[in-house]
Amino acid sequence: MATTERTASERIVADRERYVARGVATTPLVVARAEGARLWDVDGREYVDFAGGLGCQNTGHGFAAAAIHEQVDRYLHQCFMVGMYEPYVEVCKLLDELWPGESETRSLLLNSGAEGIENAVKIARVATGRPAAIAFDHAFHGRTNLTMALTAKVVPYKDGFGPFTPDVYRAALDIDDVHRVLKQDVGPDQVACVVVEPVQGEGGFIPLPTEFPRQLKELCDEHGILYVDDEVQAGVGRTGPVWAIEHYGIEPDLLVSGKSLGGGLPLAGVTGKAEVMDAVKPGGLGGTFGGNPLACAAAVAVLNEVRAPEFRARAEEIGMRIRARLEALSVGEVRGLGPMLAVELPEKTPERASRVTVAARERGLVLLSCGMYGNVIRILVPLTIDDELLERGLGLLEEAFGDADAA
Ligand SMILES: Cc1ncc(COP(=O)(O)O)c(C=O)c1O
Repeated sequence: MATTERTASERIVADRERYVARGVATTPLVVARAEGARLWDVDGREYVDFAGGLGCQNTGHGFAAAAIHEQVDRYLHQCFMVGMYEPYVEVCKLLDELWPGESETRSLLLNSGAEGIENAVKIARVATGRPAAIAFDHAFHGRTNLTMALTAKVVPYKDGFGPFTPDVYRAALDIDDVHRVLKQDVGPDQVACVVVEPVQGEGGFIPLPTEFPRQLKELCDEHGILYVDDEVQAGVGRTGPVWAIEHYGIEPDLLVSGKSLGGGLPLAGVTGKAEVMDAVKPGGLGGTFGGNPLACAAAVAVLNEVRAPEFRARAEEIGMRIRARLEALSVGEVRGLGPMLAVELPEKTPERASRVTVAARERGLVLLSCGMYGNVIRILVPLTIDDELLERGLGLLEEAFGDADAA
């Protein structure tokens, strides 16, 4: 009997089903190579990448490779608590130079965004001597126990994973509602921090209402509550400026960075006002791999790139092109900040958005959905993409809508 030859992708997908946990959701894409804003799968098929490894490639695939190669030959790991190394200190110095405010800062480096948020809350608790945190509707802050409690979507992130950390309260993105929470659920003298994304990412690319961050910061200052700015997805140049909070002109107390910070290697940072960060006694913060030398070498290259005025100018230009094309599609509400853009489809179910992302992949475009109802198509394209490839990707996106709606 003739046997059908399996493609390399099919073989790996079959092994993935056999050996990898079902809870890790995957698409059938099996990557062999990536460069800039392009990917190739193991069968040699080329894709335009509008996902950037889930927002981790703002400077493009391979951008930090040379810096990483140089570091590989020196040493891979020391553990900063055992033997210090300059790349870690250099990243903290750059985070201080790029801080969105006047304060002197200190930083701590970690492995993931969730670990960054966990540490920001830990630091806020020590600095204020208070237990509680306030998070917001549509928030996503990670998948660890504390960050699940802060996250605002049950399926799939929280479903069955409780009990969650107590002392986490939730408000709408509306200052009156924060007042309500402080009256109804928790006294302000019990609140260590608010944790808020400047543009909500997984929740559906929802920028904060223009006045809200300033109003929230004023309320926080009135009650001695710390403002934790979660820049894990919106930061490191994703919206144009290095930090998305710069659009709103307020200085946070703590800022958490991640994703694109490590240029593709796992790295997150907590940066904060010196007196807040230094409230924690020596030994209270750290971790075996946090601020790994390779990731730090990459981050130095990434931060120096995204701070350049040309990077921001190009990011803004890309944003205008994407926005114009999304608006011309007339398929739903286009929103975001700079090039961090998405379109929310009117139906509050995930099926149509999912048909679009599948059709896009079949045409050679890697695309992601998000949002409370899974009905938001978002674009996290590397911001180093050239016009020709961007136009190609946007053309494929348009065609994918045609395919999905014809199906
Ligand atoms: C805003 C935000 N915060 C925190 C996280 C968690 O980061 P990580 O997946 O690196 O733990 C994410 C991840 O998507 C995020 O988008």
